[in-house]
Amino acid sequence: MKRTRVCQLLGIEYPIIQAGMAWISSAELAAAVSNAGALGVIIPNAGMSARGDEVKNLREQMKRVKRLTEKPFGVTFNLNLPNIQKLMYAAVEGGIRVAITSAGNPALYTSYLKNANVKVLHVVASVRHAKRAEATGVDAVIAEGYEAGGNTGFDELTTFVLVPQIVDAVEIPVIAAGGIADGRGFAAALALGADGIQIGTRFITTTECIAHRNVKEAIAKAIDTGTTVLTRSLTHSRVLKGKFVAKVLSLESEGAARDGVIDLMSAERARAVLLDGKLEDGPLYCGEDAGLITDVVGADKVVQDLVKGAEAILSSLK
Ligand SMILES: Cc1cc2nc3c(=O)[nH]c(=O)nc-3n(C[C@H](O)[C@H](O)[C@H](O)COP(=O)(O)O)c2cc1C
Repeated sequence: MKRTRVCQLLGIEYPIIQAGMAWISSAELAAAVSNAGALGVIIPNAGMSARGDEVKNLREQMKRVKRLTEKPFGVTFNLNLPNIQKLMYAAVEGGIRVAITSAGNPALYTSYLKNANVKVLHVVASVRHAKRAEATGVDAVIAEGYEAGGNTGFDELTTFVLVPQIVDAVEIPVIAAGGIADGRGFAAALALGADGIQIGTRFITTTECIAHRNVKEAIAKAIDTGTTVLTRSLTHSRVLKGKFVAKVLSLESEGAARDGVIDLMSAERARAVLLDGKLEDGPLYCGEDAGLITDVVGADKVVQDLVKGAEAILSSLK
């Protein structure tokens, strides 16, 4: 496969990034993905107890991933976390080389990270935000479409229209995210002008992911219409449909108080779903591409299938 600017930037073989996903992007998954030639990514609260110490957990996760792989890996940071400064310091102290920042202003930490020789990738969902991120000096933007799992852009731009517009608007590499689960999506992203892809949901259904088996089974069983966006004016989260979603929708239609709905979408509830498999207790974040996923396989197979699938399509088009 052709090496893109993202391969050069991150020192990886294939321009594929495994997304940082709350609670579940742990050292084991990141190392397996990095060892397969892509970029594995950890998230500070991976595998942690609900009231655990995120800074301590991040330090431990970074040590663990370094024991499991010598290849590059990244860390995802939600910039609006109250303890973000401590997390940034701990990551730089721990020798982080790649940071993915999201949900906040990239001007806050990009210079700090770049001065520490860290490559910075910022998640955006509009052309305006991509340009602003470029102006702050980030190395690449991740253009995340509305198909993606988790909290998505309020303007609801799909990957298919968002990526080429951002490609036209910035000089730095663009990484496509949202709705990509196989070689067809990978080839399409490259055709749209992206220099790489970021994938979340497909990496949940891997043997190395610490998500509960109920979560993996639910995603593998999902059909094309299996997800929806909940609390559009608050968290704007794409989740798997089920009893929990029905409850939130009916509360919303009854005009429930904002705080009550926010409580239902809390991080602790998402943890109970993702790590304890209590699917009726909270939101199961998951991309629209769940409908494309039917099995649970090793992370190296996911990477290999993406690469082989995209290569076959791109060479058949020559
Ligand atoms: C379970 C889950 C948790 C996520 N948590 C976060 C998060 O904490 N921060 C973030 O920036 N993105 C988060 N995301 C979004 C991913 O980083 C990624 O951009 C997205 O999953 C890509 O779309 P896909 O799921 O269709 O591959 C999450 C996604 C999922 C599925």
